[in-house]
Amino acid sequence: MHRRMIAPGALAAATLLLAIPASAASHSPGAPGIGDPYHPYYGNGGYDVSHYDLRLKYQPATDELEGTATIEARTTQDLSSFDLDFLLDVSEVRVNGATAAYASSGQHELVITPKKPLAKDTPITVVVRYSGVPSTKSAYGFTTWHRTPDGGIAADEPEAAWWWFPSNDHPSDKATYDVSVAVPDGTQAISNGTLQSTGSQLGWTRYNWRQNKPQATYLATLAIGKFDITTNTSEGGVPVLNAYSRDLGDNAGAARASVERTGEIVDWLSGFFGPYPFGSAGGYVPNTTTGYALETQTRAYYSPKQFAGGSNTSVVVHELAHQWYGDSVSLKGWKDIWINEGFARYAQWLWSEHEGEGTAQELADWVYASHPAGDPFWTVAPGDPGPDDQFDIAVYDRGALAVQALRNEIGHKAFFALLKGWPQKHAYGNASVADFRKYAEQVSGKPLAALFDTWLFQPAKPAAPAARAASLTKASAPTAPPRSWKKIEATNDVHTR
Ligand code: ARG
Ligand code: ZN
Repeated sequence: MHRRMIAPGALAAATLLLAIPASAASHSPGAPGIGDPYHPYYGNGGYDVSHYDLRLKYQPATDELEGTATIEARTTQDLSSFDLDFLLDVSEVRVNGATAAYASSGQHELVITPKKPLAKDTPITVVVRYSGVPSTKSAYGFTTWHRTPDGGIAADEPEAAWWWFPSNDHPSDKATYDVSVAVPDGTQAISNGTLQSTGSQLGWTRYNWRQNKPQATYLATLAIGKFDITTNTSEGGVPVLNAYSRDLGDNAGAARASVERTGEIVDWLSGFFGPYPFGSAGGYVPNTTTGYALETQTRAYYSPKQFAGGSNTSVVVHELAHQWYGDSVSLKGWKDIWINEGFARYAQWLWSEHEGEGTAQELADWVYASHPAGDPFWTVAPGDPGPDDQFDIAVYDRGALAVQALRNEIGHKAFFALLKGWPQKHAYGNASVADFRKYAEQVSGKPLAALFDTWLFQPAKPAAPAARAASLTKASAPTAPPRSWKKIEATNDVHTR
């Protein structure tokens, strides 16, 4: 903890330490990770962020990003130094107005040593001035920054922030955001929340975005490029802002035909999950070549590939369902990924039913029947899949199957009360799979430990529940998937980075 005085061979240092006040001697460095067993160095120890103010400038021609991040935080221990997660080049750091020493360390740590140690439970303001070419920076051998023909994009999970702002990069430390980005006139900058204002000066246009509800770092997004922006308001009163790259080629029509239904889908999901948790909704489709989509808060990221086969409202349902399951209620640790993906996938099953393309039960029967007992699919436990299988298809498909098993066990009434109650219970907070089980037991009045263990944690194919066994025998097991299947599966490009 803090007794560095007794480190071996530190006699001279010990003498020195005796000369400085006891309060300073008891300060220790903040941990380089927040304590997530899946990703030991993600996030940091010793402080809690409440607000990120990012003032940036980006040049698409060269992929140069420069800016100043002002971070409002509170210490949670006495600190001699602390870390931020970041990869770009830092030129100055200030803590509470005074310049501070800094050094990079490990894969993505920026270690900051303030002039004076920081006392526990005090507010701090950290200013970091930086610049760099994000596409040239990597950690663990990869980059998630997407350079496009006319700009650049930060949108990935679980890591995206390191390439554009210094942060406490873990979903358990959520904060509000002001993101202000200057880009050359004629180019647009898209981020989360509401567009407060724009202004043009000397050939640069500045976009000022505000996210006024707590947001996890991986849900913060930045997209620069040439976009067409559309706005409307849903019947239920939610303001919608979408953006489409002007360079989507053949996918442009299908992208719009899908993403322009955001308002309608938000209202439809509200019927299951309760009021939409944020002041704005929408999505953007940049000219990237990657395959996945992401539930970036209030402004989902869609790959043009999602629309290559024609319109796909199913992927829109998935990313919008995450606004309740994942964004407002965020996971406590990355092992809890099922409370995001199991429910976003299940929302697609409900949408399939709504569209008359197969019921949730038919989709569950298909998942169950199409993976025989020996299939490695069943070795991935959605309730604790491990860091390498965090986005395995089993987290989604077996994850949604577990939701259907729960529905069958507790009955429709308790199930839909649970689906709506959960986002209210933990609104704007964090929760775990264990928290979900406890809440499900409370709402249904049934013990559910065995059901959760069987469907989420055992590395084996569960036996067909008695009530369903008849329809799951060889003779009557489905031989073809429901009509919605292809589009539901096209949602993920879950194995690729
Ligand atoms: N949460 C995203 C989704 O289900 C998955 C992102 C996976 N990440 C990746 N790099 N493929 O929509
Ligand atoms: Zn998802």
